[in-house]
Amino acid sequence: MSDTRILIIGANGQLGSVLTVALKEKFGADNVIASDLFKKDDFEGQFEIIDATDIEVIQKTVDQYNITQIYHLAAILSANGEKNPLRTWEINMKTLFNVFEVARLSGVEKVFYPSSIAVFGDNAPQDETSQTAYLDPATVYGISKAAGENWAQYYYMRYGLDVRSVRYPGVIGYQSLPGGGTTDYAVDIYHKAVLGEEFSCFLNEDEVLPMIFMEDAIRATLELMDAPKEAIKVRTSYNLAGTSFSPAEIVASIRKIYPDFKVKYEPDFRQDIAAKWPRTIDDSAARQDWNWKPEYDLDAMTATMIEKLKEQYNVQ
Ligand SMILES: NC(=O)c1ccc[n+]([C@@H]2O[C@H](COP(=O)([O-])OP(=O)(O)OC[C@H]3O[C@@H](n4cnc5c(N)ncnc54)[C@H](O)[C@@H]3O)[C@@H](O)[C@H]2O)c1
Repeated sequence: MSDTRILIIGANGQLGSVLTVALKEKFGADNVIASDLFKKDDFEGQFEIIDATDIEVIQKTVDQYNITQIYHLAAILSANGEKNPLRTWEINMKTLFNVFEVARLSGVEKVFYPSSIAVFGDNAPQDETSQTAYLDPATVYGISKAAGENWAQYYYMRYGLDVRSVRYPGVIGYQSLPGGGTTDYAVDIYHKAVLGEEFSCFLNEDEVLPMIFMEDAIRATLELMDAPKEAIKVRTSYNLAGTSFSPAEIVASIRKIYPDFKVKYEPDFRQDIAAKWPRTIDDSAARQDWNWKPEYDLDAMTATMIEKLKEQYNVQ
C-alpha cells in the first residue's frame, strides 16, 4: 500500500486528464483525487470540485484526504491568456500562492508545478536555449510562469517546501485536446489529417518550436517527482526537450502516411508569440540530475498519433 496521497488541480485539462490516469496506475486509484472547476460526466474515480482561487476549498480537500503530493496544473495558457492579461495574471498567481501556502502549512511533502518554454523571450538565444538563459517573456502567461518558477524556488529555500518543476515544451497527445496554447496546432493537425480534412495553420510554415509527445511529458513528470530530493539541483524549473519541428516538417511527416493531406497557412497573433520562443532547448541539466531522456521523435509521434486517432474516430 502506498502512503502517497495525491491531489491533482486542473485535472480535466490536456495534461491533467492523462496524468490522472498515469498517477492512478502508479499509486492506485484510491490514492489519487482529481479536481477541476467542474466534473466531466464520464470521469471515473475520486473527484472534488475545486476552484483553486479559493484557498479554503484546497485546504479542506488536503485535510480531508491527507494529501501528501499536489500536482498544480490549473492555469490560463499562452494564447488564451492574451485575451485578458490581468485576469490571467490573477488566476495563474493566485492559484499558485494558494497551493504553496496550503502545502507548506499542511506539511504536504511534494508539489509539482509546470512551467513553460514561454518564460523565454527576445533576449534568450533561440537555439539550444540553456537552463540559465535570460528570462524576458513577452506574454502574460510567460510572465506568470517566470514569476511562478522563482516563487517555487523561494518556497523551497525559505520553507523547505519540495516544489519540483519542468518547463514543458508544446505537449502533443491523442488522449485529450489542447487548452488554448501557441503549440495547439500540432495536435489539431493530426485530427484533420485522420478525418481527411484540410488544415489551416495559425503559424508560418517554417516556425520551429520545441514539442514533446504526451507519453514523454508524463514520464518526465513522474521521473522528476520520483527522483531523490538531493538530486534536484534546479529549484526554479528544469528545461525539458522532446523534439523540435516546424509546421512544414510535421506536414511532411504526416504526408508519409497521407500523401494528399492539404494545408494552408493563415498565421495570426499566435505567430507573434511563437516567434519569440526558443526553437530548440538544451535540457542537459534534467538529463544529468534525474536521467531525463525523450523517446519519441517526430515520425514516431506521427505514427502513434495517427494510429490512435484512427481508432478514436473509427476510420481507416
Ligand atoms: N499543454 C502544453 O503544451 C503545456 C506546455 C507548457 C506548460 N503547460 C502547463 O501545464 C499545465 C497544464 O496544461 P494543460 O495543457 O493541461 O492546460 P489546460 O488548459 O488543458 O487545462 C488546465 C485546466 O485547469 C483548469 N482550471 C482553470 N482555472 C482553474 C481554477 N481557478 N481552479 C481549478 N482549475 C482551473 C481548467 O478547467 C482546465 O481543465 C498548465 O499549468 C500549463 O501552463 C502546458
